Amino acid sequence: VLDLAAARRFVLEGTRVTTTPLLPELPLHLATEVTPLWHATEAHLAAAGVAPPFWAFAWSGGQALARHVLDHPELVRGASVLDLASGSGLCALAAARAGAIAVTAVDLDPLAEVAIALNVDIQTPKMIAPRVIVGDATALDPAAHDVVLAGDVCYDAAMTAALWPWLSAAAAAGKRVLVGDPGRAYLPRDGYRTLATIEVETIDDVEGERRRSVRVLEVLARR
Ligand SMILES: C[S@@+](CC[C@H](N)C(=O)[O-])C[C@H]1O[C@@H](n2cnc3c(N)ncnc32)[C@H](O)[C@@H]1O
Repeated sequence: VLDLAAARRFVLEGTRVTTTPLLPELPLHLATEVTPLWHATEAHLAAAGVAPPFWAFAWSGGQALARHVLDHPELVRGASVLDLASGSGLCALAAARAGAIAVTAVDLDPLAEVAIALNVDIQTPKMIAPRVIVGDATALDPAAHDVVLAGDVCYDAAMTAALWPWLSAAAAAGKRVLVGDPGRAYLPRDGYRTLATIEVETIDDVEGERRRSVRVLEVLARR
C-alpha cells in the first residue's frame, strides 16, 4: 500500500503531461512511448494479460465521450454529473469544463484518485474539482446524478455485466446516460441509440489499432 506522497510520485514518474490529438484542451498525465510506465505496461501485457494502469491512458471510448461533451456543453451545463469508471478523469474534466455544476468521478483503483487530482491541477482555466470516490460504481445510487458518463466500460465480460444494468437503471430513473464505445466485445446489442461517431487516434500498443471509430451512445430507459 502506497502512501499519498509515494502514490503521487509513482504517477508523476510514470507519466508525462501531454494531450491527445482529439482533446488538445485537456492536458493529462499519460504514459507515452517515452515514459517508464509505458514500457512496464507493455512488458506486463506481453507476459500475462495483466491489466494496464488504466488511469495512465486516455481510452478511445473516453476520448470520444469527452470530445462530445466539450462540443455539446448543453448536455451537462448546470447538471450534476457522475463519471463512472473514470480512469484518468478525462470525462469528468470535460464535464467540468463544459459547465457542470458538480462533478463526481468513481473508479475502483485508488491510483486513479491520485491521477485525477494531478490532472485537475494542470487544467487551464481552473475548473471545479471533481469529487473522487474510490470504489465500486454499482454501490452508488443510479438516480443520484442528472448525467452519467461512462467511457470504455464494455471490454470485459464481468465488468459489463455489472455496470450495464446499473447504467440502464440510471436511464430508467430519467437520467441522461452517455457511453463512449469503440466496438468493444461486450457492448449489449440494444438498449441505446447512437448520438455521434468520432474517429479517435489511439496508441496501438494499448488499443491494438492506430485509429478507432468510436460511438457516443445514449442508454435508453427500458419500457
Ligand atoms: C478502460 S478504463 C476507462 C477509463 C476512462 N473512462 C477512459 O475512457 O479513459 C476502465 C476503468 O474502469 C474502472 N472500473 C472497472 N470496474 C469498475 C467498477 N465496478 N466501479 C468503478 N470503476 C470500475 C477501472 O479501474 C478502469 O479505470
